Amino acid sequence: MNMEQQNQQPEIVVPEAEDFLPLLGTDHIELIVGNAKQSAYYYMQAWGFKPHAFKGLETGNKESVSYVLRQDKITLVLTTPLVADGPLNDHLNRHGDGVKAVALWVDDAEKSWKETTSRGAVSVFAPETREDSHGKVVLSGIETYGDTIHVFVERKDYKGVFLPGYQPWAPKGNVEPVGLKYIDHMVGNVGWGEMNTWCQFYAKVMGFAQLVSFDDKDISTEYTALMSKVMSNGNGRIKFPINEPAEGRKKSQIEEYIDFYQGAGVQHIAVATDNIIETVTELQRRGIEFLQVPSTYYETVLDRVGEIDEDLAPLSDLGILIDRDDEGYLLQIFTKPVVDRPTMFFEIIQRKGAQSFGKGNFKALFEAIEREQSLRGTL
Ligand code: FE2
Repeated sequence: MNMEQQNQQPEIVVPEAEDFLPLLGTDHIELIVGNAKQSAYYYMQAWGFKPHAFKGLETGNKESVSYVLRQDKITLVLTTPLVADGPLNDHLNRHGDGVKAVALWVDDAEKSWKETTSRGAVSVFAPETREDSHGKVVLSGIETYGDTIHVFVERKDYKGVFLPGYQPWAPKGNVEPVGLKYIDHMVGNVGWGEMNTWCQFYAKVMGFAQLVSFDDKDISTEYTALMSKVMSNGNGRIKFPINEPAEGRKKSQIEEYIDFYQGAGVQHIAVATDNIIETVTELQRRGIEFLQVPSTYYETVLDRVGEIDEDLAPLSDLGILIDRDDEGYLLQIFTKPVVDRPTMFFEIIQRKGAQSFGKGNFKALFEAIEREQSLRGTL
């Protein structure tokens, strides 16, 4: 499809025949935070991420400190500046705690950078090789929405704990996982009228295809609305829904995010579990706060989704939502924001065949978010 045809049909995104950007998975997610040491404790003790690697003053890193945590296939990096007035400080000052880098695992970081920058991506840093006694990695980086970046990580020649410069980190104390397995999808919030721009970016620059689209008629309540499209890479391992606010009677939750984050950024990280009842029971026991839909949701939900394997009672007790598509059903629940500003949150999801994102739950969910916005005085 050439440009002219695309302009005539902006809603249709056709993937290129050959996947010019094969992605093996999400390598890690790096958050810039105000106090990485205490954030690490929160993600270990509340979320069950195991300590994995560290760099900081003790490893000769004078500018910043980073803690690497891991649970199954999910790797989080928590970074805090140790000095004033650097780029990390700017990120922190502007956005509060939030995701800086969505790092993607590739076979060839140089080719990934060339393929994307030649299609219009803005380079953050050109391919660079970092080495230590455990081998070498090649890293490169491009910009995406807001101040968020994608880092391409080529680690096939590396045997070290994480990346060169890091050392293993095994602090005392027990950490019990909660059954989180992998990143199912990561959602970006972008500004008014920018959803198509960024979907086109993922299509043209990264070779993603559009899976689904929701407009404000799908996703609106009495007060607020948003629009969303889901972009997926060729092998389906990476899914990035992109949201933009839509006009409603009151302030959209996306607009609230954009206001507090001071621009576009990662809204939620959806993490998969094989047993959502056990995972959420444990997370709630550890004090993680989730959005609650009214108990009336459970009076009619089975009429909508049909038979499910689980008993309804524990799902209702925990506030877990259910949705069904042509391929099966899914169970999901959303936390309240996990940072001080009403910005980033997590979704816990268990897929039982369904490949969709819980459209049937949007209305109940957004009404729950509006109750929270009302408490914050931002509705
Ligand atoms: Fe989601």
